[in-house]
Amino acid sequence: MKWSRSLCTLALAAASLGSAQAQEKLLNLYSARHYQTDEALYDGFTRQTGIAIKRLEGKEDELLERIRNEGANSPADVLLTVDAARLAAAHEMGLFAPVQSKILDTRIPAHLRTTDWFSFSTRARVIIYAKGVVKPEEVRNYSDLADPRLKGKVCTRSGSHPYNLSLMASIIAHQGEAKAEQWAKGVVANFARPPKGGDTDQIRAVAAGECAVALSNTYYLARLMRSDKAEDRKTMEKVGVVWPDQQGSGAHINVSGGGVLKNAPHREAAVRFLEYLSSDEAQRYFADGNNEWPVVAGVKVANPALAELGKFKADSMPVGSLAMYRAKAQIIFDRAGFR
Ligand SMILES: [Fe+2]
Repeated sequence: MKWSRSLCTLALAAASLGSAQAQEKLLNLYSARHYQTDEALYDGFTRQTGIAIKRLEGKEDELLERIRNEGANSPADVLLTVDAARLAAAHEMGLFAPVQSKILDTRIPAHLRTTDWFSFSTRARVIIYAKGVVKPEEVRNYSDLADPRLKGKVCTRSGSHPYNLSLMASIIAHQGEAKAEQWAKGVVANFARPPKGGDTDQIRAVAAGECAVALSNTYYLARLMRSDKAEDRKTMEKVGVVWPDQQGSGAHINVSGGGVLKNAPHREAAVRFLEYLSSDEAQRYFADGNNEWPVVAGVKVANPALAELGKFKADSMPVGSLAMYRAKAQIIFDRAGFR
């Protein structure tokens, strides 16, 4: 974990003045995002508002723990992180403060915000398959992954990972626990190997013929599509991508997002920062930096990989309700042996 040095010169100068006014010109940001393009995003906020950003980067779960341990003395104003499950965990730990903002309410669709945390970009969890081995029409829906005809063909990352937990939470929300558990058991019965690695490892395994079907977040696919390495692009030539459940509830969506912290010393600046993240300019940076989609309607991104992935129907289930079934999702995965 490290404090970013690049933007804090102004912040340190302001802090050393010691006046209340100078204090307000600073924002302490805890971020689990580590993208180069985010520098330009933060510079834009400082340019517009004169508020310097002092950034602490860390791993998702470490940041949550740190804020909890710092308690009332925490310097953190805003937490940015990825995955609804983690944002929900921060909410459940009581780390966020409620925010009322006309700008956020107008800009961010209702299903992508809660009372105290907000989504700023979305990613979809899609099905990928080995071209020539599996036909796309065999894997149209998440439910197909549990179909016995895919026995020995499914690769996956761990069932404890937030991406799979959030997907499972959405399946419970849509279909109920009994069907969700049946699905989990069916997928386990189709495993080509015990769960291991990240999403990119599953994509490579499908391309290498170790298995034929897997799940991946879209930005991992976009990253390989845009890679400088010929082998990455070759990998992508071997796999097909399916938008799941297009006749049903739509592809499962997850988010990156954030909120104002309960003990934020610079609350006003923190709210302004969240509002800035919903601006057209910030939405473009925010999404392009990690090959995600903006949450604000009508924002144009210039990203060839996203253009190639094309349009799809996204599940419009409220992100907040994923949280409700998170614990249940883990219990069901454990019971099904999806570890
Ligand atoms: Fe990820």
